[in-house]
Amino acid sequence: MLGSHLVQALKLGMLAAVATMAIGLSGCEKKTETPAAGTGSTTAPKDGTAGAPAGGTDAAPAGGATAASGEEIVIGHYGSLTGSEATFGKSTDNGIKLAVQEANAAGGVMVNGKKHKIRLISEDTEGKPEKAGTVVTKLVTKDEVTAVLGEVASSVSLQGAPVCQAYGVPMITPSSTNPDVTKVGDMIFRVCFIDPFQGKAAATFVSKELKLKKVAILFDQASAYSVGLKDEFGKAFVAAGGTIVSEQAYTKGAADFSAQLTRIRGDSPEAIFIPGYYSDVANIAMQARKLDLKVPLVGGDGWDSEELGKNAKTAIEGCFYSNHYAPDQASPEITAFVGKYQKEFGGIPDGLAALGYDAAKILFDAMGRTKSLKGPDLRDAIAATKDFKGVTGSITINEDRDAVKPVVIVERKDGAWKFRSSIAPE
Ligand code: PHE
Repeated sequence: MLGSHLVQALKLGMLAAVATMAIGLSGCEKKTETPAAGTGSTTAPKDGTAGAPAGGTDAAPAGGATAASGEEIVIGHYGSLTGSEATFGKSTDNGIKLAVQEANAAGGVMVNGKKHKIRLISEDTEGKPEKAGTVVTKLVTKDEVTAVLGEVASSVSLQGAPVCQAYGVPMITPSSTNPDVTKVGDMIFRVCFIDPFQGKAAATFVSKELKLKKVAILFDQASAYSVGLKDEFGKAFVAAGGTIVSEQAYTKGAADFSAQLTRIRGDSPEAIFIPGYYSDVANIAMQARKLDLKVPLVGGDGWDSEELGKNAKTAIEGCFYSNHYAPDQASPEITAFVGKYQKEFGGIPDGLAALGYDAAKILFDAMGRTKSLKGPDLRDAIAATKDFKGVTGSITINEDRDAVKPVVIVERKDGAWKFRSSIAPE
């Protein structure tokens, strides 16, 4: 149905346009690598929204993938299956796979009275923002996916979302918390909370529960997530009567953080807030302890990886981070999910696995309610999600296409992360 020459031509034009746009956004200058460059598209979306053919209109190149009776529905996932944040992508992919298996074991997802099996195509971003445009364009134009799940990292989602928006294909990020991600357009959703709330929750925890007044911040200057969460934490901590005694930046993947840590030590904080990803945090924690900086380290959801404890060992004892779920938190949804995940993949699922599972479940729930699988119809069904009982809490999509949910604080005790408290949204 999508194979006509006209549609094919539109697709090639759009491919060039969107790939160029994505590359432009990522600041890469190698225009020669643009797929199908030179097809001279005149239908280029200028800002990722205006002028883009909305999926589901008659001339839509994609996003209108309407599976015929009995045909399978193809969905895409883009994530860091390799690279320095590989556990983010792998856990998410496992969570999605579990949801797909469950749907298919039940005969498929029911759309307008007919069941369709789901087929998942996963693409690796290596955790690099500059890869997102290419892999999402591939999923949308070549695989003609009905919807896209991903990415984890906000900086990567910010590059993938404009492609989904331009083609009118709904995208649900399981876990990108930077507010700008869903602002890309009306096709972009998330099933997690956003950083203004996460930052405030962490600040409230440090000031009210730990009763600390002086905090230093060490953040990744090139990450949209890290910069945003630093700002939100700082604002809320100062509003709660605290002081940010030091603010230091680092570059992801750096080997040596001792210059920043030495300056921080000079400012005598009672805790250090590090809104970064687990691989850097492990190195930072070990180097901090070597410099005799013994105060608690506090982080956000980016700490969520088994690798952090494995690598940092005792350096991370007595530290805290905010997250989307804790596997040891009591709830029937969590217990059932942990059991199923363990049987399938072994090991305890992290928050990414839980969010990947919830994102896929919400997509299938929306498919069960949609008028059709065309982009705008599916978008409307996702937008109407209300009180969905997810593993990561009850999920209602608000008018900004974000989810409003509690933040969980976990604590490292005797070599394991333990549920400490839950902070409800206002
Ligand atoms: N919230 C992080 C971001 O936006 C990603 C993340 C989510 C990492 C959950 C770990 C766990 O970049």
